[in-house]
Amino acid sequence: MSPLHVTRTLAEDATDAALRADVLGGLTAAPKWLPPKWFYDARGSELFERITELPEYYPTRAEREILATRSGEIAAASGARTLVELGSGSSEKTRHLLEALTPLTAYVPVDVSESALTRAGRALVAERPDLEVHALIADFTAPLALPATPGPRLLAFLGGTIGNLLPVERAAFLASVRSLLSPGDGFLLGTDLVKDERVLVRAYDDAAGVTAAFNKNVLNVLDRELGADFDPEAFDHVALWDAGREWIEMRLRSRTDQTVKVPALDLAVDFAAGETLRTEVSAKFRKEGVSAELAAAGLELTHWWTDAQDRFALSLSVPR
Ligand SMILES: C[S@@+](CC[C@H](N)C(=O)[O-])C[C@H]1O[C@@H](n2cnc3c(N)ncnc32)[C@H](O)[C@@H]1O
Repeated sequence: MSPLHVTRTLAEDATDAALRADVLGGLTAAPKWLPPKWFYDARGSELFERITELPEYYPTRAEREILATRSGEIAAASGARTLVELGSGSSEKTRHLLEALTPLTAYVPVDVSESALTRAGRALVAERPDLEVHALIADFTAPLALPATPGPRLLAFLGGTIGNLLPVERAAFLASVRSLLSPGDGFLLGTDLVKDERVLVRAYDDAAGVTAAFNKNVLNVLDRELGADFDPEAFDHVALWDAGREWIEMRLRSRTDQTVKVPALDLAVDFAAGETLRTEVSAKFRKEGVSAELAAAGLELTHWWTDAQDRFALSLSVPR
């Protein structure tokens, strides 16, 4: 069996400094907000996996349906020998691609969640002894140094995670994706599509309260990492659809007037009763918008596949 190579491209103290900077900036802004990458400690990653199994959370099932039926076409169009996956999480749906891409030499999953990455990586090296697995603990919004594996490369960004980036961040992210691609490489992007508001809101506010627990978990991360005294039960989970921006917002709404201390930042943060903290946006897309954003980054959309109910799309694009 080939070994699992795990590389941390971010020093521990860089992660720490980034968390401090994000929390200081976000909790002193008006309105308050936090970037979603801090959800994903070991518990957050587990809660996300539970979300993917919820009856209300259609995106995972819809994207899996596309991968199950179209991986052969994707493989034929890309001919990749290395699959790089950004925000790979459990790599569960990716198995369809890993099977279809032949001959595949290397798989490079990239994620901020060390626990999700090592668990998925260990399972994969056991299942696929023929494959080199180079797991990268890295922030995909920062410049990435990819291992020297054979081309062509297919860079995949699944799960609709691109929707968690704000438009300006998306443009920078797509430009950095473009800079990683050489002629012959491809970019496979999963985008959740605009649809009925009720279906969208339910997907982020499930009856069992798993998404609420996932949302509040970011407060546990701040308590543990920065010594903050957030009481997650003093906040309510909120999911709402912004029709103008065509995105879902997840927020945490303070139940009372309260002051939260963040000793590591020497900070005291006042929340008024009803005040919200935005923890995630999840943008929904249309084909024209995806194509235009890719084009602005120097990528040309060549294929567009949707599930049978047109809920989710996978696009393949190539450098222009
Ligand atoms: C919405 S989940 C999707 C997981 C998986 N791709 C799927 O489709 O089920 C987002 C994943 O991206 C990772 N992630 C979020 N922000 C990240 C960042 N800035 N850099 C690297 N990974 C990130 C999370 O840890 C998580 O595994």
